Amino acid sequence: MVENSRPIIAILGGTGDLGSGLAKRWLASGYSVVIGSRSAEKAQAFAAELGGNATGKDNVEAARAADVIILAVPFSNHEASLREVRDVVQGKIVVDAAVPLVPPKVSTVQLPPEGSAAQIAQNLLGDGVRVVSAFHNVGASKLHEGKRAECDVLVFSNDKEARELVIGLADVVATRGVDGGMLANSAAAEALTSVLIGINRKYKVPGAGIRITGLPSSAA
Ligand SMILES: NC(=O)c1ccc[n+]([C@@H]2O[C@H](COP(=O)([O-])OP(=O)(O)OC[C@H]3O[C@@H](n4cnc5c(N)ncnc54)[C@H](OP(=O)(O)O)[C@@H]3O)[C@@H](O)[C@H]2O)c1
Repeated sequence: MVENSRPIIAILGGTGDLGSGLAKRWLASGYSVVIGSRSAEKAQAFAAELGGNATGKDNVEAARAADVIILAVPFSNHEASLREVRDVVQGKIVVDAAVPLVPPKVSTVQLPPEGSAAQIAQNLLGDGVRVVSAFHNVGASKLHEGKRAECDVLVFSNDKEARELVIGLADVVATRGVDGGMLANSAAAEALTSVLIGINRKYKVPGAGIRITGLPSSAA
């Protein structure tokens, strides 16, 4: 399924704010993107609007058609979405972007007992799936501005090769991807999102983000 050495990317919840923003950036860079939705019709109509190498399918068929599957659904539907695609993502890379926000206090860190959304994903999908965690600290509004979002993207996984592939995908949508280490560390990025939401409110900005200082310029 890999086209011109580029993986085919499915985005579950690809009609939403974050998913559609990511889709636009990857499509602009020539990737093939399958928009996933609970409704195949909605996904197809949305993909037609996006144009380029975009197609639309229901979430399960989107996951089946891709090499790399991005999970961009609300945390309330995170577990149900994972269960739905579990069989068709075996052997693939699943990138969890869901943040375990618990409304109404979304600017307060409230991580789940498992430690993180990413850990829930790995537990549920099993060792046959290479779970990566990324994009938690990218304000979706920044992705809709027609250029790469000005921020770093922390990328976590227990699988080094999968982590590096997703760092490459993050380089396309934002300033750069940065290796954040093992999946257990995802808790830090997931928690940080609540802090950034609080900063957005306090300073009346749409998309506060993070930059890691002290890295060599070659990493930028
Ligand atoms: N927005 C951001 O700036 C941002 C940044 C970083 C991380 N995140 C995380 O990324 C995930 C998606 O965020 P978002 O802002 O893009 O969310 P969203 O726009 O509210 O929802 C994304 C998509 O998920 C599906 N969906 C919505 N509600 C659902 C429900 N109750 N059950 C099942 N599917 C549902 C919808 O697609 P269909 O109707 O087509 O199925 C929707 O278009 C969240 O976990 C969020 O914490 C968001």
